[in-house]
Amino acid sequence: MDKVRIGFIGVGGMAEHHIKTLRKLDGVELTAVYDINAERAAQIRDAYGPEVFAGERELLDSGKVDAVFLCTPPFARGNIEEQIAARGIHLLAEKPVGLDLETARRIGGMIAASGIINSSGYCLRYLETVQKAKQYLAGKQVNMVLSYRIGGLPPAKWWAQLDKSGGQIVEQATHQVDLIRYLAGEFDQVQSFYAQRSIRGIDPQATIPDVGVVSFTMRSGAVGSFANTSVSPHFGRGDVEIFGPGYYLAIKGHTLTIHDADQKTTEKCETDFYLEQDRAFIEAIRTGRQELVLGSFAEAVETLGATLAFGETKFVADPVAAG
Ligand SMILES: NC(=O)c1ccc[n+]([C@@H]2O[C@H](COP(=O)([O-])OP(=O)(O)OC[C@H]3O[C@@H](n4cnc5c(N)ncnc54)[C@H](O)[C@@H]3O)[C@@H](O)[C@H]2O)c1
Repeated sequence: MDKVRIGFIGVGGMAEHHIKTLRKLDGVELTAVYDINAERAAQIRDAYGPEVFAGERELLDSGKVDAVFLCTPPFARGNIEEQIAARGIHLLAEKPVGLDLETARRIGGMIAASGIINSSGYCLRYLETVQKAKQYLAGKQVNMVLSYRIGGLPPAKWWAQLDKSGGQIVEQATHQVDLIRYLAGEFDQVQSFYAQRSIRGIDPQATIPDVGVVSFTMRSGAVGSFANTSVSPHFGRGDVEIFGPGYYLAIKGHTLTIHDADQKTTEKCETDFYLEQDRAFIEAIRTGRQELVLGSFAEAVETLGATLAFGETKFVADPVAAG
């Protein structure tokens, strides 16, 4: 394979970031795009040169793509992935890989059977600090996990619609939930509480909760808690803290902290996780080595299952009455 020819389905903000990232890699060519918004597709063509197709199937049948980046919003998933796999086209599906677990599982099964190289958007796994944390934690008992995703409301209108995004946990905090799975193992029982407090002051049509807390147990016997809000524009946090017998480990952004009897260290890495994620996907395609991908579609399906369980919305306040 001379160059890996890439097509995009959905070319919004995240797709454009991937397009810019792929330009930093050798042996990659952006050949094809499709977006339901033809104007947006034309913008991408004018800026980066790919051919615009009138539909997903036209793009897949063009013979011009070896791999597809699926970058549609969560509500627009489930219809095309099996067509991609059936054609032997490799797939990077942005997170979350849908909103319906049964559909995602069916697609995951088909992808695994097809043998295509597959990846998801769980980019934090590629941080050097996360890899060091994983090595440190290997074989160690985890007692407790504390985690947070706190920030302001993203601008896309679909984001604040529960039936379109799944809410902050499913759409965004899924990165932290995925990291907990990756570093500390699988969840067992989950109890969550959500409320809609002030989001309608920003977006009167919003249907997602804007604050939430989750308590959970893990299969290992560990316990944990998770807190999230999307109406905190002036303070952000996306941490995973892990407590075990005699140690404390925290991933905060690009920073890893470990405190134990032998060390009290904090180190920051400079990893561009999108670059490493896209590089691993392309390299896996070139070499046929799926193991280079740190977050396969199947892994993303497991994380979707966890976030859907986390995100089972139990409003504790009447959204209309909330101040
Ligand atoms: N990994 C990360 O860090 C990260 C960051 C941001 C977004 N994302 C994910 O990327 C995906 C896209 O997010 P975004 O921020 O780019 O959203 P966006 O709204 O900016 O872009 C989505 C694009 O998809 C197009 N689209 C919608 N339905 C479509 C359909 N049926 N067929 C073709 N195109 C369609 C829209 O017209 C739009 O251009 C989401 O799943 C999101 O969670 C991942």
